[in-house]
Amino acid sequence: MSEIRIAIIGGSGLYELLEEAESRIVETPFGKSPRIDIGVFGEKRVAFLARHAKPGSMEVKHEVPPHMINYRANILALKRLGVKAILATNACGSLKREYKPGDILIPDQLIDMTKNRDYTFYDGSVTPKELIGEGANSTVIHIDFTHPYCPSLRAIIIDAAKSINLKVHEKGCYVCTEGPRFETPAEIKFFSLIGVDVVGMTSVPEAILARELNMCYASICIITNYAAGMQERISQEEVRGIFNKARDKVYALLEEAVRRIPRGYVCRCHEAVQ
Ligand code: HPA
Repeated sequence: MSEIRIAIIGGSGLYELLEEAESRIVETPFGKSPRIDIGVFGEKRVAFLARHAKPGSMEVKHEVPPHMINYRANILALKRLGVKAILATNACGSLKREYKPGDILIPDQLIDMTKNRDYTFYDGSVTPKELIGEGANSTVIHIDFTHPYCPSLRAIIIDAAKSINLKVHEKGCYVCTEGPRFETPAEIKFFSLIGVDVVGMTSVPEAILARELNMCYASICIITNYAAGMQERISQEEVRGIFNKARDKVYALLEEAVRRIPRGYVCRCHEAVQ
């Protein structure tokens, strides 16, 4: 059987992707993953994980809120399947008038405003050798996070968008809030002042944990609303409705991006921890 080097993590609104899939649940020292589907997409074998699905269950529904997702189990489960590169979808609110609901943005920077999540694999509960194998020499690990989203994977996504004539915002700063509530207008004003473009609840610690396991990670942000204070109110129904409308272009972009990831793809993210 050919290896699985690419995973797609589906956020709000994206719970199924593969037409024919073999499904499994992966056990890790941090707990069980939700159902992971494995099948062909973009001419490659990929793993698909819906991040809001319940761990250990073969049913996939939006059941786990962003602050309660077991990000460590999810990312380690993908690592154990052999995954080297992760494409994630993240619903988010826009802080810029010109970035409209329904638009897609490929973030290049990240600000962490979460409060209470498990941010690292390297807290002594599992040894680095168990996590990333023989090459692991250090016990105290500080990853470089100058580029929180893999630059080469981002370039692949942006080229993929151009090739299918899909307009995307090619960079932007994502702030991750703790949730599950949406933000106040005062928080959004503050985030705007410090240079944020979009706000969501799921990129942290997902992007961090992927890098800690030497995996490439990039995000496709789907703007589902203007951030708090920029429109009357924000509702989950609206977020869902806009995502559903954007679904076809998100699928097309994911498929073309997967097609363009070279077989045997490696980049510097794979040397993050040694
Ligand atoms: N804030 C935080 N997370 C979100 C939003 C938002 O406005 N929209 C979709 N996810």
